[in-house]
Amino acid sequence: MGQHQSQAPAPDDLLTAVYPIKWQIALDFGTSYSGFAIAVKDFAGAVVDSAKTVDLASIPRIHLTHYIKYNSSWPGGRMPYAKTRTALLYDASSKVVAWGNEAWEQYMAMEPGDQGEHIYVDRFKLLLDTKLAHQDEAMDRLKAFGKDPTDVIADYLRELVAFLGKYIRHGDPKTELNPFHVRWCLTIPAMWSDAAKQKMYRAMFKANLIPTLTSERVIFCSEPMAGLLSEAISSDARTKIQRDDPILMVDMGGGTVDLTAMRMGTDGFDELVPGIGASCGATMLDDEFLGMFRRAVGPDVYYQVVSKHPEVKLKILRDWETCKTTFMGEKRWFGRVPIPRTMEKYLDLDDLESDVDVELDDDELCLTTAIMETLYEPIVAEIVGLVTTMLDRLQAKGISVAHVLCVGGFSQSKYLLSALRERLPINPLKIVASAHGAAAILLGAPIFACRPELIRTQVARLTYGIQMRTPYKPSVHGPRERLRDRLVMCDDGITRVNNAFDVVIRKGDALVPGQVITKSYVPADCLHTEVWFKIFVSHLEDPVYTDTIGCDKVGTVTIKVTVCTHYSKKDPLVATVRVEHTGLVLEVKNKRTGAKVGTTVDFYD
Ligand SMILES: Nc1ncnc2c1ncn2[C@@H]1O[C@H](COP(=O)(O)OP(=O)(O)OP(=O)(O)O)[C@@H](O)[C@H]1O
Ligand SMILES: [Mg+2]
Repeated sequence: MGQHQSQAPAPDDLLTAVYPIKWQIALDFGTSYSGFAIAVKDFAGAVVDSAKTVDLASIPRIHLTHYIKYNSSWPGGRMPYAKTRTALLYDASSKVVAWGNEAWEQYMAMEPGDQGEHIYVDRFKLLLDTKLAHQDEAMDRLKAFGKDPTDVIADYLRELVAFLGKYIRHGDPKTELNPFHVRWCLTIPAMWSDAAKQKMYRAMFKANLIPTLTSERVIFCSEPMAGLLSEAISSDARTKIQRDDPILMVDMGGGTVDLTAMRMGTDGFDELVPGIGASCGATMLDDEFLGMFRRAVGPDVYYQVVSKHPEVKLKILRDWETCKTTFMGEKRWFGRVPIPRTMEKYLDLDDLESDVDVELDDDELCLTTAIMETLYEPIVAEIVGLVTTMLDRLQAKGISVAHVLCVGGFSQSKYLLSALRERLPINPLKIVASAHGAAAILLGAPIFACRPELIRTQVARLTYGIQMRTPYKPSVHGPRERLRDRLVMCDDGITRVNNAFDVVIRKGDALVPGQVITKSYVPADCLHTEVWFKIFVSHLEDPVYTDTIGCDKVGTVTIKVTVCTHYSKKDPLVATVRVEHTGLVLEVKNKRTGAKVGTTVDFYD
């Protein structure tokens, strides 16, 4: 929940005088890889001109890499890539000694004794999605030093931005980056909860990248949206997006796969149906592989060795990464993952009884096309399920997609693309992977930061509403005798139902920036001195109560009211909900006293 109650001037207005915005920088903090992209000075102008003056579909495409700079040569990187590993290496006193690719490389090169004196941690983005219940031994060790996931993310962001400062200085030695002069655009999975975004906000603050916790120097952009913007505007896109083309974006990253359906109109994009996502990215394939490896060598041996020598797991994963990224689905293909020597000592290869159809050849685990297909199967099935759900939702509205556009690192898996082409009920030629791969999101985020209004309508993914007492209606609430505890007789003589979900925006509604929804309320009781507007979200289209499964409270606004002696004298309260590009702004006004309170609720919850 974006979350200030404001009766004073917006904190950002005060901030602008002290720290004017000089930079627009996007950070893609990914599950496995992270990077940054900087919009050069005339970029905003280029996007403004192209977006405002002419039809979006007929404008000459921009050579995005001319306007947006990102780094592709990272310390410790073996190959050029737009991002570096999302990983940290701490010493025994929880001081960061390396980050990114180097954290991994240094840890791998250490002697076992030395490793025991260090803590290597990665995939910590998954800790923000509490639904995943992601467990991590390294995080448990860091907890002993008082570090929670937000601290670890802050440590990582601090290093990433220090490197960004060096990158900028390298290009222009006279320029010093001051993070407080930056408008940050953070790309986030479309399925992320508001709580996760709040933690990212806190991590940015802890890392000293924003001056205050309430500053509006961070704008969140959903990853598939960024991917679409870069593909639509880039001169080297593989798909020429035409006006009115319905496009299904599929962002396939390390952790999540996110889907968004958009249509490009004359001056912007409209979202068509509510997007969806799931945790079935490339690192889930790594998990499938590790599971198979464990079963092949025997879980006892695996856990015994890995708990004593955690580097063994990393070594296995490194060899697996090579197999994973080189596998294209060819009929005759063989990959090998050597069994680390430390593990081999414990193995009796002749005596192994494996329930999996893998071959342990001497000291290697041999992978074949059939095994790779088995490993990919649950992930492919889940992605096919997600895409099919979106195609069905679109079909129900009479929309047939022109392109299924895949972005993110995992979209570079040729096997995955061909499996999708084979299994999806759509012309395979319509399924395309972006030439920019993982960088598509980095290139698109600055476009969103400069021109958020290019996204004209979004579709509410959730139902938003306010908890209230509503007049009892048998047709809605059912028979009286089933509701005994919920019913209250109010001071105006009307029987009401407690904890009712008063819908303000319904899941599936088109949200147009600037649109305002107004609702009138009165205090529930003459003797109340304040009224609490509790804001709830639900995955249901027609939630009746706020206290049932599937409803979550995302914020509260409190307003003072006058005590009175008769219900007709209660203070009239007006709630307005304004749709903005990045979220909803709720403002409650007491019409008698003139007092106003407000709060913002971000989208993509
Ligand atoms: N050719 C390939 N085949 C299979 N997987 C690949 C290939 N190239 C990259 N990947 C995988 O893609 C992942 C990185 O993708 P990306 O950089 O989009 O993820 P991320 O942004 O870290 O994740 P998320 O967006 O879910 O947080 C890695 O797990 C990597 O192994
Ligand atoms: Mg990503």
